[in-house]
Amino acid sequence: MMINVMENTLVLLKPDAVQRKLCGEIISRFERKGLSLVALKLLTLTPAIAASHYEEHLDKPFYPSLVSFITSGPVVAIVLRGPNAIKAVRTMMGPTNPENAPPGTIRGDYATVMSNNIIHGSDSVISAQREIAIYFTEHELVQ
Ligand code: PPS
Repeated sequence: MMINVMENTLVLLKPDAVQRKLCGEIISRFERKGLSLVALKLLTLTPAIAASHYEEHLDKPFYPSLVSFITSGPVVAIVLRGPNAIKAVRTMMGPTNPENAPPGTIRGDYATVMSNNIIHGSDSVISAQREIAIYFTEHELVQ
């Protein structure tokens, strides 16, 4: 049986989502799901912020294109809160590769390729804590 633990999770609406004007549509999905906005900002990632966010992928072959993409334009950083929010957001996002993402998921509905996959969501409580701290101070999180 799944216990409903209140969680915060970090979502990034990537440069392709901002450029295609999909932010309102995607945020609306999370609000209709019942998740709460705890913090939100528009920013362009510096290479240093991108390196911090994706430090675990430093040695991956896709790392240069990932950093190049994520710094290519503004992103929307969001903290969402709700029961089991980390899993709820990841389920709504769909698989990382949009080719495998079913219709009804965010990537399934709005993305076609891995290199432009619209959205990032934290994959664990530890990741969420680490990633939220990259983008927001404690004071920026609504209680
Ligand atoms: S791994 O190797 O399984 O840990 O990697 P994976 O989870 O599949 O992907 C890690 C993040 O890298 C992004 N990614 C890419 N971005 C741009 N271009 C290419 N080619 C590419 N390949 C992977 C992928 O979307 C993951 O980022 P997030 O932000 O977590 O979705």
